This record gives sequence, C-alpha cells and structure tokens, in this order.
Amino acid sequence: MSDAWFETVAEAQRRAKKRLPKSVYGALVAGSERGLTLRDNVEAFGELGFAPHVAGLSNRRELTTTVLGQPLSMPVLISPTGVQAVHPEAEVAVARAAAARGTAMSLSSFASKSVEEVVAANPKTFFQMYWVGTREVLVQRMDRARAAGAVGLIMTLDWSFSMGRDWGSPVIPERMDLRAMLRFAPEAVTRPKWLWEFAKTRHVPDLTAPNLTPPGGAPPTFFGAYGEWMQTPLPTWEDVAWLRERWGGPFLLKGVTRVDDAKRAADAGVTAISVSNHGGNNLDGTPAPIRVLPSIADAVGGQVEVLLDGGVRRGSDVVKALALGARAVLIGRASLWGLAANGQAGVENVFDILRSGIDSALLGLGHQSVHDLTPADVVIPPGFTRTLGA
Ligand SMILES: Cc1cc2nc3c(=O)[nH]c(=O)nc-3n(C[C@H](O)[C@H](O)[C@H](O)COP(=O)(O)O)c2cc1C
Repeated sequence: MSDAWFETVAEAQRRAKKRLPKSVYGALVAGSERGLTLRDNVEAFGELGFAPHVAGLSNRRELTTTVLGQPLSMPVLISPTGVQAVHPEAEVAVARAAAARGTAMSLSSFASKSVEEVVAANPKTFFQMYWVGTREVLVQRMDRARAAGAVGLIMTLDWSFSMGRDWGSPVIPERMDLRAMLRFAPEAVTRPKWLWEFAKTRHVPDLTAPNLTPPGGAPPTFFGAYGEWMQTPLPTWEDVAWLRERWGGPFLLKGVTRVDDAKRAADAGVTAISVSNHGGNNLDGTPAPIRVLPSIADAVGGQVEVLLDGGVRRGSDVVKALALGARAVLIGRASLWGLAANGQAGVENVFDILRSGIDSALLGLGHQSVHDLTPADVVIPPGFTRTLGA
C-alpha cells in the first residue's frame, strides 16, 4: 500500500499515536521524572552541525560494517525493547524487517515472543538479559538463548527502578483477564485498526515474558518478572566478568555513560559496549549518549566496539554518532513507531529512511564509506560534550 509509506520517523510516530491505545503509546514514549534525559537524547543531535564539501564528492557510498562479528548492511541495528501489545507479530515482525534490510536484531528477555521464533526470523539475533535471579537461573536463560541460535549476548545494567513521570504513567494490567479487557475496552474501541490486527489473530496481548519461563513452568507475567528483578541482589564487576566468561561468545554491555565504567567493562573482557542511558527511561538528568560518546570512544575505542543508542531518529544522527566515534547505533523507539504504524513493512520503512539519510550525509561530507567519518565532519558547539568519570 503506497499510502502506508512514511517519509520520516516523526511521521511514523504521529501514526503510532493515532493508531495505538493511549496506554500502549504512553508505554513506548516512556521516559522518567522531568523527562530531561528523554528530551536531551533527541535534542543533542540537533545541536551538532555538519561541515560539507560541494565538489569532488563520491559517486558511490559504502555503508556496510560488522558488529559483534556479524556483517551488517548498514551501521544500524535493533535495540532490545521489552514491550507488549504494540502489534500481534511484535518482535518477530521487527526481526524479519531487520533481516530483510540485512541487519541485526536484539531481543529483550522481557519481550513478548520467544527467542526461538525470533532467531528463526533473523539468524543475526542477540539476546538481552538483565541481572535477574540467581546465577543458576541466569545460566539457564542464557543457555536457552544459545541453544536457540542467538549469536551474541547483551547485558543491560543501567536500570535504577525509577518511578513516576510528571506527565503521568500509563496503567498497564498484570494480565489480560476479563476485568482488564473491560477496563481497557474504551481505549481500544477508539483504535479500530489496532484492534483489528489483534482480532484477526483471535488472541489478546497476553502480557507475559516467554523467555523467562522456568524449566517445565509457565511464562511469568511481565510484572511478575519485574518483581523478581527488584529482589535480585545487584551485580558486581566480577559478576559481569563471570557472565561474559560463562557465555563465551560475543558480549555487549549496554548502558555505559562514564569513562571509568567503560574501562572496567573492557577489563571484564566485553566485546562491545553501548553508550546509552536506556532511552531516558531511567536516572533522569543523565546526559545524552552523544555528549559522552567522544570521551568514551577515546578511552576504549581501541579495545572494544563502541556502539551508541538513544535519540536516533534520522540517518544524519547515525552519521554524527559515527563521526564522534561509534561503530554503529541501535534504535529503540524509531523501530517501535514503525512497527505500530505499519507492522514489518513499517520497520523496513524506518530502516530505509535511515539508510537514505546516512547515504545523503556521506555524499554531502564527501566520503566513500561510513568508516571514513571523523570528528572534523561535525560542527561541535562549545560546551556540547560531557566527560564523566575520567
Ligand atoms: C518501551 C521501551 C522498552 C525498553 N525495554 C528495554 C529492555 O527490555 N531491555 C533493554 O536493554 N533496553 C530496553 N529499552 C531501551 C532501549 O533498548 C534503548 O536503549 C532506547 O530505547 C534507545 O533510545 P531510543 O528509543 O531513543 O532509540 C527500552 C526502551 C523503550 C522505549
């Protein structure tokens, strides 16, 4: 359907807002407290400019790269997001879209589809875990992902159980029983396209986390799993090194914003880090990842793959991140807006927007390849960068 095509991620977000029930849309906007970090993640990219050339430009541009040993058609991959009820095909649709565009998928352990289904949709799948449960339980979940064919492990550590948003949090039921359905019916009936997608499958969103199912048991509810997480003692750097060792394959530590933490992660033997503040859903007031990226890339860029996630909405954002030292970026909300707007095709649409934006910026900057970008391509205003923990 040609009229389903959108030209920017902002348009995908507008359509997602129209299409999703208010609570589901609110859960994707997320953010915390004042929303300082949520805004800074996006707006900081807008403070950076470009220094383009006008002649002698390259007729062909190369966008390919590798992340955690996987060849990617472009320096953009899917960030893990534990969300439910956006679309019936959920993470499987996202994984297929990433595969169709030649790039990788990251699957949250709080996601609504199993790692087996998602790896079948995209063999370049990384499985993401939080530090939830005992070491034994962590190993069980990790071994299941490995057996399913996940080609990398992501450990996300930057979660501080922040509660409350000044603009209000959506009410999300523990499970979709009759009572919850009646409560949410008024929201859902005003969103006929969304309702129809689920009606066709004859299933309501079940709000469980199938990748956290104990052996021989039933999948926990999203909130049940969250409760287990809140009770788990917090990990040390030795725990991180242990998990990395136990996994044995490519390992990404997600959520680093400080130079000292980046160095500790490198010492713990990780393959990669993602400079990230969890998309501003966490400790509000943490600077945008793009502000702290240069100091971290300087410190550990020679030892580990430095990635970034947070606030990426256009190809030029990707190019700015690469110019300041990232190898690739992960996208969270951009892919969720695409999924909500038009399912798998909507996520492919988002990748196409980013690809053409990267290509256009490379052209303007006079580069042949994403690997040729340097800080000299970017206009950095005074006071833009932040260096934490150096
Ligand atoms: C609704 C939502 C759910 C998320 N769930 C997870 C998760 O389960 N695991 C994780 O590592 N990060 C999670 N994140 C963070 C994303 O992986 C990523 O860091 C963030 O969305 C990047 O910012 P962006 O949305 O501006 O691209 C979530 C983010 C959102 C918006």
